[in-house]
Amino acid sequence: MTESTTEKSVKIGRGNQQSEFPVLEGTIGPDVIDIRKLYSATGHFTYDPGFTSTASCRSKITYIDGEAGLLLHRGYRIEELAERSNFLETCYLILFGELPKADEYKKFVDGVTNHTMIHDQINYLFRGFRRDAHPMAVMVAVVGALSAFYYEDLDTQDPKHRLIASYRLIAKIPTIAAMAYKYSVGQPFLYPRNDLNYAENFLYMMFGVPCEPWKEKPVLSKALDTIFILHADHEQNASTSTVRLVGSTGASPYAAISAGIASLWGPAHGGANEAVVNMLEEIGTVDRIPEFLARAKDKDDPFRLMGFGHRVYKNYDPRAGVLKASADEVLDELGKGGEPKLAIARELERIALEDAYFQERKLFPNVDFYSGIILEAMGIPTKMFTAIFALARTVGWIAQWNEMIEDPEQKIGRPRQLYTGPAERSYVPLDRRG
Ligand code: SDX
Repeated sequence: MTESTTEKSVKIGRGNQQSEFPVLEGTIGPDVIDIRKLYSATGHFTYDPGFTSTASCRSKITYIDGEAGLLLHRGYRIEELAERSNFLETCYLILFGELPKADEYKKFVDGVTNHTMIHDQINYLFRGFRRDAHPMAVMVAVVGALSAFYYEDLDTQDPKHRLIASYRLIAKIPTIAAMAYKYSVGQPFLYPRNDLNYAENFLYMMFGVPCEPWKEKPVLSKALDTIFILHADHEQNASTSTVRLVGSTGASPYAAISAGIASLWGPAHGGANEAVVNMLEEIGTVDRIPEFLARAKDKDDPFRLMGFGHRVYKNYDPRAGVLKASADEVLDELGKGGEPKLAIARELERIALEDAYFQERKLFPNVDFYSGIILEAMGIPTKMFTAIFALARTVGWIAQWNEMIEDPEQKIGRPRQLYTGPAERSYVPLDRRG
């Protein structure tokens, strides 16, 4: 196959068998070769396991430049949003494309606030789990079960129905996550409170108890709100692609988000924040860092440096940069400055970034490297770290789900394959199989 590229198209093929494919341009970032007609024109599929070079859709929501370590939501840098915005305002931006005016913001916050309760029947669902069930297992089940409660009146092709589903999911996911935690510690569920902001309400439902008044924790809720912002959306990552694929069949958005939670749980994806803290615990002291770096580089050892590396970022993940900068401040404010894990993390990062193996592969800390240290210092149990990632990412998943349905070019996702199994052969009866 030879190919030549003109300004707006690529020719693929040999001699007079060449076919021409348009090159589509985005606002910023790589252009794409539109290969939708490749199979009918050439009889070939493309081969791209892991989709390292494949654009699955057009999107206006998030842009990542992996080489530059740049992350934009609707054109705004993540560092600016983390510094100057708040999570619900960022949710509005990600969902609707613009920063809200004052009246739009108030209406959105009121809309989310008034959807935070869940159907009381759902409380019984938790009873079926062992108390030590992982919160992510519980969230996959309970969020999926929402599709049983909001099914009759949900036409995914109706923008009004999609909007109410969007509000419900953003509003109810903290309630469900907090209930998963309360169930695991045998404490009673707390109903959401409409007088608390989004992050404070989550902390209340997590750590409040019915026998005493709640003392607001502004340092914690601000730090948590920033962590929510940093995890809100991230282009076509594994869990977002999962939500898009499930949603492309017309399935309930609650089922699609449940599938996204399941996908995020993996340690190669959102489960890494829990794995980072477990890894730092296992390392234990700074002098054991070389032993673990050697394991991370050993191809015969499945161990990987959790919180390091990224499919897209070949530079510092800007979210890790924000978390690294705030880690000292948050831990000091919490009276946990000098936390040993933070010291090990910083030394581990310093040594790794000077190591040729990590430099050659452009392996830098990602969003999960520091988030767990801050969450742990806030008193969040390790098993809840990925649940908090899922809580924050719900707005990204639902915004991408809406965009997918509204995209006239989108159709049911159905990749092909390179078949390497046996060619056709005839059935051999049991008594003649030798
Ligand atoms: C998230 O996609 C997103 O946007 C995800 C996310 C989001 O916001 O949605 O950013 C959230 O999932 C962050 C990533 C969290 N995961 C981890 O921290 C787990 C540890 N990292 C790795 O498993 C890995 O880096 C991935 C999964 C994140 C990326 O894997 P890729 O892109 O498939 O890269 P690769 O496996 O092809 O690695 C390239 C090379 C390999 O070595 P060689 O075969 O070239 O010799 O780098 C090595 C890998 O072995 N490598 C690592 C490593 N990560 C990659 N070696 C040691 N430790 C690591 N962490």
